[in-house]
Amino acid sequence: MSDQTQLHIDGQLVRVKAGSSVAAALRVAGIAGGMGTARTSVTGQPRAPFCGMGVCQECRVQVDGRRRLACQTVCADGMRVETTA
Ligand code: FES
Repeated sequence: MSDQTQLHIDGQLVRVKAGSSVAAALRVAGIAGGMGTARTSVTGQPRAPFCGMGVCQECRVQVDGRRRLACQTVCADGMRVETTA
């Protein structure tokens, strides 16, 4: 069994340590220049994981077509994450 998990974030293949959150994977992937941006606000401002415990909602992403909180979602092999959806 591998200690790595592979997923796609905005089409980019990302490898993270098994058990990592999607929020951590965003950071590892260097999304938005390493900020780990999860989405943009209605005014176009970049938003990124802030609280890390499911409260702020700033880490919303699409995971396999469903809206999820990146900080509350564990990466799985083959997962497809979209930050622009
Ligand atoms: S970082 Fe606050 S809800 Fe995910």
